[in-house]
Amino acid sequence: MQTIKEILSSRLRAAFAAAFPEADLSALPLDAVPAAGESFGDYQCNAAMAASKILRQPPRAIAEQAVARLDATGLLARADIAGPGFINLTLSDDALARHLEALQADALLGVPRPGDGKTVILDYSSPNVAKPMHVAHIRSTVIGDALKRIHRALGYTVLGDNHLGDWGTQFGILIMGYRHFLDPKALETSPVDELQRVYVLSHQQCEEDPAWKDQARAELVKLQAGDPENRALWQQFIDLSLAEFNRIYARLGVSFELVRGESFYHDALPGVIEKLQSLGLVRESEGALVAFLDDEKLPPCIVRKSDGGYNYATTDLATVFSREAEFHPDAIVYVTDERQQLHFRQFFAVAKKAGAKTHLRHIWFGLMRLPEGLLSTRKGTAIKLDLLLDEAERRALEIVKTASPDMPEDQQLAVARAVGIGAVKYADLSQNPQSAVTFTWEKALAMDGNSAPYLQYAVARIASVIDKHQERFPGVDFMQEPISLDSPHARRLALRLARHADAVLDAAAQEKPSLLADHLYDLSQAYSSFYQNVPFLKAEAGLRESRVRLCDLAAKILRHGLTLLGIDTPERI
Ligand code: ARG
Repeated sequence: MQTIKEILSSRLRAAFAAAFPEADLSALPLDAVPAAGESFGDYQCNAAMAASKILRQPPRAIAEQAVARLDATGLLARADIAGPGFINLTLSDDALARHLEALQADALLGVPRPGDGKTVILDYSSPNVAKPMHVAHIRSTVIGDALKRIHRALGYTVLGDNHLGDWGTQFGILIMGYRHFLDPKALETSPVDELQRVYVLSHQQCEEDPAWKDQARAELVKLQAGDPENRALWQQFIDLSLAEFNRIYARLGVSFELVRGESFYHDALPGVIEKLQSLGLVRESEGALVAFLDDEKLPPCIVRKSDGGYNYATTDLATVFSREAEFHPDAIVYVTDERQQLHFRQFFAVAKKAGAKTHLRHIWFGLMRLPEGLLSTRKGTAIKLDLLLDEAERRALEIVKTASPDMPEDQQLAVARAVGIGAVKYADLSQNPQSAVTFTWEKALAMDGNSAPYLQYAVARIASVIDKHQERFPGVDFMQEPISLDSPHARRLALRLARHADAVLDAAAQEKPSLLADHLYDLSQAYSSFYQNVPFLKAEAGLRESRVRLCDLAAKILRHGLTLLGIDTPERI
């Protein structure tokens, strides 16, 4: 099914082509975009201004010629020219209503599948072994998972790969720490904390005592050479860390198709160096092997250190080549915090020179600030995700108990889980990932603002309208009644419902789940004013069913959108 924007855009393209058959208009923004405000119609097209230079005519004259050839049949109530040459498009109520009926009949709710036959690898979460996950990994996990769901809805085959930091110099230090400082009891009760603790102690020793540092390096060399004892220790670090990470993933409802840490690529690293050398992309500099990126105006990228060790970039290059050979992806998308931008620019540049064909994209986000006193039981400096989620569920339970005191307790707990986890995720996903945000409980759990509970509550409220209709008018099938848009409230809601597919497409194209969140919030507000201003169950027969039918579609679309963000929608709150 075509989206409204696609239908409008193809008519606009045809109109411009018919009006200016001689001109090459391929560079023009001929797409329809949602109108900037209601007074400008439903959609607008801004191409006439840009076309003015190409066609050497005033924009208004261009707009007039295009509009004269615009096919409005079965689609538009009007096409107006405004200001310097904007084309403002207003859909006919009939076209809008029929489009919604088609969406409702479509199992995919009108979301197209441009990704069919294409593969995307999403590299996200990727915490480091033997260290607690920190806020950046949590954001990466939540954003990466939403991007995976969004791409899947568009037909892409998506492989989520958890690229664990499970290799490198820290393991020599950790092995020394483990042998000298371990508290076995603590390892049992909170293994990752204990590993982190002994690592920190050993790291301090390295700074103070060169002999300790040498010993740590020797342990690393042994590990990399396959020494059975060190290998077993290393495997234990991974198993303990993964057990803890997996518990968090389960709570968040996140999973991966692949969990390939950096160690997976260890044996491929010398081959990467040979490849770069044979292509003449690297040269020796102060004992290290370096790719110079002057053309790209980037600092040089070290691929082998003077001590013979490999770098983060080397592993990432090996990873790209391995993923290309095995999965032939169309794109690889990496989700990390902003501090890694330079790393990705550098290794993308080297990968391209070395012949990588895949579209490589780094999606970065700012660090979310967690204000002091966020958690009543906060200990240490690393924010503990478990504690954050516990507190979210506890606070959500209070909301649920107030809203539904008569609900059985186990159901209250299940709903509180969905609301609490949803609130934490949505607080993250609803922000433009690149702007700095501060997490607060007031915002995350606001029942009257842009929050998961608000949207979840909207879905539950809509569902109850449909249930009530069934109770009061048993056997009356609202789907038999055509949708009618007989009030401005209904029309505003209809327009948002029709935009859903485009919002999913935009979120994927810009790799920003926040665009989908914005749309869902906008939609739920339009629903809210529809609900408050238009009677449903008290309306006359026919009209009543038409309105309930619109509610049903609103519930389906909100649920669909929230699911793509990884947020559950309980039947009741
Ligand atoms: N482990 C890294 C970190 O914690 C993130 C890895 C991101 N993925 C990648 N292919 N470099 O900072």
